[in-house]
Amino acid sequence: MKHAHPFGSVFYRKLDHNRPVVSHGQGIYLYDETGKRYLDGSGGPLVVNVGHGRSEIVQAMANQAMAVAYAHAIMFTSEVLETYSQELAAVTPIEDARIFLLSSGSEVVEGALKLARQIQMARGESERHLIISRSMSYHGMTLGALSVSGRPGLRRPYLPMLRDMPHIQHPYPYRNDLSGCELAGRLEEAILVHGASDVAAFIAEPISGASLGAVAPPDDYWPAIRQICDRYGVLLIVDEVLCGMGRTGRWWGIQHWNVAPDILVTSKGIAGGYFPLAAIAARRSDIDAIADSLGDYNHGGTFSHHAVGAAAGRATLQIMHQENLVQHAALMGEALGQRLHARLGNHPSVGDIRGRGLFWALEFVQNRETKLPFPARQKVAWRIWESAFQLGLVVYYSQGCVDGQDGDLIMIGPPLIISEEQINELVDLLAMAVEDTLANL
Ligand SMILES: Cc1ncc(COP(=O)(O)O)c(C=O)c1O
Repeated sequence: MKHAHPFGSVFYRKLDHNRPVVSHGQGIYLYDETGKRYLDGSGGPLVVNVGHGRSEIVQAMANQAMAVAYAHAIMFTSEVLETYSQELAAVTPIEDARIFLLSSGSEVVEGALKLARQIQMARGESERHLIISRSMSYHGMTLGALSVSGRPGLRRPYLPMLRDMPHIQHPYPYRNDLSGCELAGRLEEAILVHGASDVAAFIAEPISGASLGAVAPPDDYWPAIRQICDRYGVLLIVDEVLCGMGRTGRWWGIQHWNVAPDILVTSKGIAGGYFPLAAIAARRSDIDAIADSLGDYNHGGTFSHHAVGAAAGRATLQIMHQENLVQHAALMGEALGQRLHARLGNHPSVGDIRGRGLFWALEFVQNRETKLPFPARQKVAWRIWESAFQLGLVVYYSQGCVDGQDGDLIMIGPPLIISEEQINELVDLLAMAVEDTLANL
């Protein structure tokens, strides 16, 4: 099929990119210029939390842009920024949080790494600069975020340019039966090996996203991690870029374990895709301590604290409250999980079906007993994704969950407004794509 746009002046990440031209979206559906309809079963990489075509958000952005679209954060604040930050802070698990807005997940990860360093400096711990993270994690594409990410394929070309930060083993109950305490013990070992006086923070996704596909750690993991961080004065940064903002049936992934982080970063769904928005949340007392002893938070950007972004985020948050979307995600997530198990649970190549709320993943294997993955060259996840796309279903795929190379995942993360009937439609289309692709390998 030929899709390439006649002008063809864009280059994409996939350099052989040849995709349909999207025309519009409404609710949980997207339409291309030929009129073909796609059920948006993943909102791209889990972005479209409140659905397409939300005129309330567009109107709020337009009103703000008409009033004033841009005024630099060093020179002004704005009513919308102040109000939104208060409202966002109120739903974070950080007591009395303050908010710093940027434009992407990678940027807020970078910002959080620097903030952790500055909080430590403000506490008189100026040696602390190391950030411990996990293997098979994903925190973004910029060089700082990639330094703490654990995805070998993405890191490989840039290894000489990355900071060598310690990575500890990731939780992965399907393939590794270490308890949460044992896994958390790896953090303690790393702190001791590198010297507690040098470690600034530990960063991790509460529920693993793009690299591992909706992996929740054992129940005792996060409380044990919190204790270890406290024992050694290490800050806990939770990366809620993907799993935050209601996606997993709680406002934040970490709330499944009742653990409070020191710093939280989020993006993707917080403005539903209407604006590239991202946020850092941190304790007021830590920000005050930086102000008192260092003067400034030494970070920023031309488009930080954007008023139109704040308007988009605020309108999205209002919809989340008004439509009870966090509870709805929890409820619909149960239905989605049940339906996936019922429809695909016995398929000989479906090794694992896992998820929380409206974030689910399927992991494919050659053999369910041995859990042997398909070789990467067979591109199983990509083929299923492509087959689903042809059938009119958008999902998200990833490869390499087992060892950085092999391991095929399909991820599902529809808009949180999805109905049970639409969940059935989603799973039926996905099952068709899975069955068809695997029968024809
Ligand atoms: C957990 C997590 N952190 C950070 C990022 C980076 O976000 P962005 O692509 O907006 O830079 C992502 C993106 O997928 C993510 O899933």
